[in-house]
Order: sequence, then structure tokens, then C-alpha cells
Amino acid sequence: MEAVDIQSELIEHDPVAARGENRDGEAKKVFIKTFGCQMNVYDSGRMADALAPAGFSGTDSLRDADLVILNTCHIREKAAEKVYSELGRIRRVQEARRRDGNDTVIAVAGCVAQAEGQEMARRAPAIDIVVGPQSYHRLPELLDRHAQSGETIVETEFPAAEKFGALPAVQRRQAPSAFLTVQEGCDKFCTFCVVPYTRGAEYSRPAAALLDEARKLASRGAAEITLLGQNVNAYAGEGPSGGQWDLARLLDALSDIPELKRLRYTTSHPNDMTARLIAAHRDLPKLMPYLHLPFQAGSDRILKAMNRKHTISSYLEIVEQLRSSRPDIALSTDIIVGFPGETEEDFQETMRVVETVQFAQAYSFKYSARPGTPAADHKHQIDDGVKASRLARLQQLLSAQQAAFNRSKAGRVLDVLWEAPGKKEGQLSGRSPYLQAVHAEGELTLLGRITPAEIVGASQNSLQGVIKSHR
Ligand code: 5AD
Ligand code: SF4
Repeated sequence: MEAVDIQSELIEHDPVAARGENRDGEAKKVFIKTFGCQMNVYDSGRMADALAPAGFSGTDSLRDADLVILNTCHIREKAAEKVYSELGRIRRVQEARRRDGNDTVIAVAGCVAQAEGQEMARRAPAIDIVVGPQSYHRLPELLDRHAQSGETIVETEFPAAEKFGALPAVQRRQAPSAFLTVQEGCDKFCTFCVVPYTRGAEYSRPAAALLDEARKLASRGAAEITLLGQNVNAYAGEGPSGGQWDLARLLDALSDIPELKRLRYTTSHPNDMTARLIAAHRDLPKLMPYLHLPFQAGSDRILKAMNRKHTISSYLEIVEQLRSSRPDIALSTDIIVGFPGETEEDFQETMRVVETVQFAQAYSFKYSARPGTPAADHKHQIDDGVKASRLARLQQLLSAQQAAFNRSKAGRVLDVLWEAPGKKEGQLSGRSPYLQAVHAEGELTLLGRITPAEIVGASQNSLQGVIKSHR
């Protein structure tokens, strides 16, 4: 995916629950901590589903957990290091539990597991199971193997058998906004990126299975689905009656599910932004006016060195087409500063692209050399101070654009999907069509529903709304 995207600042999501029995005959508990992108959030949910038949239920307390899973992210250095520091904390809890006579199995999943499998097990001997993203359906079996042998199990092959078919159906009650992985892996090989190595080659799930899962998500409470893929707009799955479906066709079919009110997809590569998909933003009312479309760098020379296979003019052309198809579309992007060989002039070109496009929001990063990727061996690595200075200037510009975009909605009435209770009592928080966070006073009964809200305040990161009417 453009590997990740909310991705950006490692979100640590609430642990996911799953169900079972430990040696004392009590229900077995799993604690899952998710790092990184939305695909990991989706995968954590599916791991919980895979563990349910083995008797596990979820817990958000580490102290109660018979099984701890860290679902990791490898996209930047900071991301991987967080896992090791988290392991230290878990070991201490494991020791305290051992004193009380309880075992704790520690499993590491996700992209760090995939990339560093054996090495992780050596570096952190407390790890019992290392499991790559293609093998989650095998978790119960891996737990058994570990219990029988007492050895560390490392399962990071890319098995031919396809994991999605083997995972049990969605079991859990869904939040109003759910994720659905439709495509995984990447064949683009941008020279900075680990994803083609950790998530493997592009694979699209068959449309029939996706429609079925989407209907289940909707019947369990999801009003919005975000389709996920490292290269989601390259989706090319088997159609329900043969032939191949592209993402536009899939979105069109998903639009027919009555309980689903909103559709989104992420992350997209500019080269796969087809005319059909651009037209879908005009033709499908359920497809939200928001698109995350990374451009990474503003200079064609750097884009070439990144092996991005697009130019700035082709990117700007797509932006123009999107805006003529859906004039109010909010655009988001990913940008890397300090890629090897980037000059101040190259960086200024990045700033110019941002000025030209005017993003509603964006994620920006200092280039982080990832072992095994081509750019990591580049001779002209950029000094960290230079990267930091460029990132600060870029983020200042991006923040100003985000604030301006939010302000532009003040005084308007926007449809808001209410997703969760707010921080303060009597408050709700939700999302506008443009993916802005909206806070308002409202009844909990509105959760999962879409109501109009008048936007009475706008700040850098959110909008303040007043709920107008609801039937
Ligand atoms: N260094 C910095 N940022 C990176 N990204 C991916 N790999 C790297 C790296 N090595 C960023 C890209 C991508 C997003 C998910 O993370 O901008 O789109
Ligand atoms: Fe995205 Fe490029 Fe990484 Fe593929 S290789 S996931 S296109 S950044």
C-alpha cells in the first residue's frame, strides 16, 4: 500500500478481543496490540476471529492475558524499535503472572515478524511464536505446536494456500466504521519501501468473498466500510461469475448493499487511478469525497530514484481529473523528505506541489533507511538535521492547509457518521464525508447513524458540530 497511511504515526489501537479456557478451566484470554496501518487493525480482528474457535476471548488487560500478540509495523525504523521496547514491558508482566502460577505465551505478528523472523526470536528470546501476515489462520495450530514442543515457532513462509479463505467468518459486533482488506501485497518496488518484501506480491481477493464479508460487516453494525490494500486501486479480483473485476466495479457492487451508507478505499498509487475509478467518485453517492493519494516527492529526479513510475505532471493531471469528477473531493497524501540525494531544490519542488494541490491533510516522514531495500545502500544519505529541518518546514505548510480546509467547512451543514462516545459525557465523535473528526453533543442512540450537523467551529484537527435533526 502505499503501505500504510493512517499508518503514519503509529497508531496503537485498542486491543481486540477474542474466547477460551486456560489450565484452571477459566476462559483463555488474548491481548492484541496493533501497531501501524489499518491493514494491521483489520488483521488483528481476523486473528481474534481465528482464535475464537480455539477458545480465546479478548481482554484489554495485559495482566489477564494468556496470549499476548504484538501486531507489528516495519515501515520505518521507529516502528520496529517500538516493538522491542513493548516486549520489555510484556516480559515484566509475564514474570509477575508466572509468580501467580500463570503462563503467558508471547507472539509477534505483522511485518516486523515477516522481515526479521529468526533474528527477532534470537534478539528477544521471550518470544514464543513469530507469525507473518500470510499465516494468521494457522495461529491455533502454531499455539499447539509451541505447547507441545516448548520451542519458539517461526512461521514466516508465504504459503501457497490463501489465508483469507481459511480464516473463519467475521464474528464480532462491528464498529460503525469497519475495514475490509480486498488486496494485499505490492509489485511496485519503490526503492525506499519494505512492503513488497514483507507483504509479498499483489493478491486480490475474489469479489464474491468480499461482497459476502461486506454484507456480514453491515449486518453486524458497520455503516461504513473502508476497503484496504497496499495498492488498493490495483485491485483485480475474480468476478462472481468469472472475468475480472476492478476496484470501480467492486465499489459499484458494494453500493448496492442497503445497510452500507459509506464507502472509502486506501491506499492508492497514482498509476492505478483509472478513468473508471475517477468516474466512480462522480457516479457513486456512497463513495465518500476523500482520497489518499501519495506522491512521495515533488521532483521527477527523486521520483525516478524512488522507482515511483509516475511524474509530477502525471500526478497533477490525476488531481485535476479527480476534481472535475468530484469538485469537493478532499485530498490526502504521503510525502518523504530527505530521500538519498535530495537537494534543497528538490525539496522546494515538493513544497511547490503541496502549494499547488492544497491538501486537506497529509502524512509526512523523514526518509528512514530500511535494510534490504535498494535506497538503503545509496551513497548520498541525507544528514538527519537536514531531514528534520525539511520535515518541519513541510509540516508547517501542511498544517496550515489542513486548518484552512477545516475552516472552509465552518458554517456548513455536513452529514456525520457518529462512531463513538466523545471524551466528555454527553458528547459524540464522528466523521464528516471528508474524514474530518467531528465532535458534538448528542445521544448515544445516534451511534452508527448519519445525521446532519451544523459546523460551528473548526480547529487544526477537528470540527465542532451541532446536530440538526434526526429521525
Ligand atoms: N522511510 C520513510 N517513509 C517511508 N514510507 C514508506 N517507507 C518509508 C521509508 N523507508 C512512507 C511512505 C508511504 C507511507 C506508508 O510510509 O510515504 O506511503
Ligand atoms: Fe506503496 Fe511503493 Fe511501498 Fe508499494 S512499494 S507499498 S507502491 S510505497
